[in-house]
Amino acid sequence: MRIEMRNGRLIDPARGMDEPRDLFLADGRIAADAPPGRLERSLRAERTIDAKGKWVVPGLVDMHVHLREPGEEYKETIETGLRAAAAGGFAAVASMPNTQPPNDARSVTEHVLRRAAAVRGARCLPIAAITIGREGKHLTEFGELLEAGAVGFSDDGTCVADAGLFRRALEYARSFDTLILQHAQEPRLTVGALAHEGPRATRLGLAGWPSVAEELIVARDLLLAAYTDARLHIQHVSSAGTVDLLRAAKAKGVRVTAEVTPHHLWLTDEAIETYDTNAKVNPPLREEHDRGALREALRDGTIDCIATDHAPHSVLEKVIEFDRAAFGVVGLETALPLGLALVRDRVLTPLRLIETMSTAPARALRVPGGRLAVGDPADVTIVDPERPFRIDPSSFVSMGRNTPFGGYEVPGRAVATVVGGDIVFELA
Ligand code: DOR
Repeated sequence: MRIEMRNGRLIDPARGMDEPRDLFLADGRIAADAPPGRLERSLRAERTIDAKGKWVVPGLVDMHVHLREPGEEYKETIETGLRAAAAGGFAAVASMPNTQPPNDARSVTEHVLRRAAAVRGARCLPIAAITIGREGKHLTEFGELLEAGAVGFSDDGTCVADAGLFRRALEYARSFDTLILQHAQEPRLTVGALAHEGPRATRLGLAGWPSVAEELIVARDLLLAAYTDARLHIQHVSSAGTVDLLRAAKAKGVRVTAEVTPHHLWLTDEAIETYDTNAKVNPPLREEHDRGALREALRDGTIDCIATDHAPHSVLEKVIEFDRAAFGVVGLETALPLGLALVRDRVLTPLRLIETMSTAPARALRVPGGRLAVGDPADVTIVDPERPFRIDPSSFVSMGRNTPFGGYEVPGRAVATVVGGDIVFELA
C-alpha cells in the first residue's frame, strides 16, 4: 500500500532527527520524506494518515520476547504474541529459544518463521539456542541455524555457565559475525533462589538471589568477549554492579551491548512485599540504588536498549504459591506506555527513548529497520504521546495477563504499527 503520513513529529535517531516531517511509504519501503506539505506532488497515496500531534518513529524492535510456540501454546502462540507486539507498537520481536522443543535445530527455526509468516503482526526474528537442548553441553550448528533465519544465539532462561563452552560459543559466533546473548546467572549462587538477596527476602522467608550471581558471569563474559573479540549482548541487566562492569568494558572498547526491562526500570523488590507472583521474575527486582543506576545507564548509553523479556504464563503457573510460581512478566503492550512515562518524568528524551526501543536493538541484532531514511523498510510506528490510559491486563491481545503494572496510569501509546508497508495494527 502507498501510505502518506502527514504533519507528524518525525523521530529518527539514526539521523539524529526530531522535527515535523511528512513520510511517504511505497513498495514496502520508505519512499520519500519532506518538511510538512512538501512531499512531491506526483506521489499518489492510497491512504493518508493525519499524524498531527503524534510521533512518527521507526517501528519498535524488541530484542527479548517469549512467544511460547512450539510447545506451550496455552500461554501464548506465535499469532497472539506477534499481534500483541503490533498492538504495543513493535514492528519486530526477537523470539527466545526456550520453547518445547527448544529452537536448537534448523527445523524449529523454519517452523517458527513459517508460522510467523502467516500472521499479520510484528516480524519474528528467531534467536536460536547456543547449546543443544539448552543443556549447556554441546554447541548447536550456528551456520545451519543462521541459514534457516536465526539472527543470534542465546540459551535464555538458562545461563551458559561453563566458561570453556562459552568461550567456544563466542569464537564460533565471531566466525559467523553473529551475536551471542547471555542470560547472566551463576547457577551455583542461585540454587532455589526466589527474590533479590537482602533484608526483604529474608523477612519474607524467600531464598536470596544475590546481585553477584549476575555480576560474576558478566565480568567473566566481558573478559571472554575481549579475549575473543566477539560481539556479546547482556540480557535483562538488573544490578548497579553490572552497570559498573559494562561501563568499564565499553570504555575499553569491548564489543558489548546490553538491555534492561521496563520492570527493572520501574520497580524494586518492594513489589513482592505482598507475595505478588506477577512481580516474580528472573532476574529478580532489586533495590532503589539498582533501579536508579539502570535508569542512568540507559540515559547515558551504558545500556543500549529497552527489551521487554515478555514472558507470558497462564493462571496455572501464576495464581499459585509464590515459591511454586513461574518467573516472568508480560511486556509487549506496556513497554512503550511505560517508556513514555520515562519521557514524562524527564529520564529520557523522546529521541533517546526511540533509540533504545528501535534503532539500538536493530543495530545490535544487525537486522533491517530501526531507521526511517529513504530506502529503509517501511516499518513505522505512530505514537500518541498524549492519550492517557489505565493499564488493564484483561484488555491485552497477549494471552498472558501476568503484569505488575495493572492499574498504572500511563501517558500514551502506539496508535498504528506498519510492517513492510502493511498497517498491521491501528487503534480505532
Ligand atoms: O522471568 C523470566 N521468565 N526470565 C527468564 O529469563 C525466562 C522467562 C520465561 O521464559 O518465562
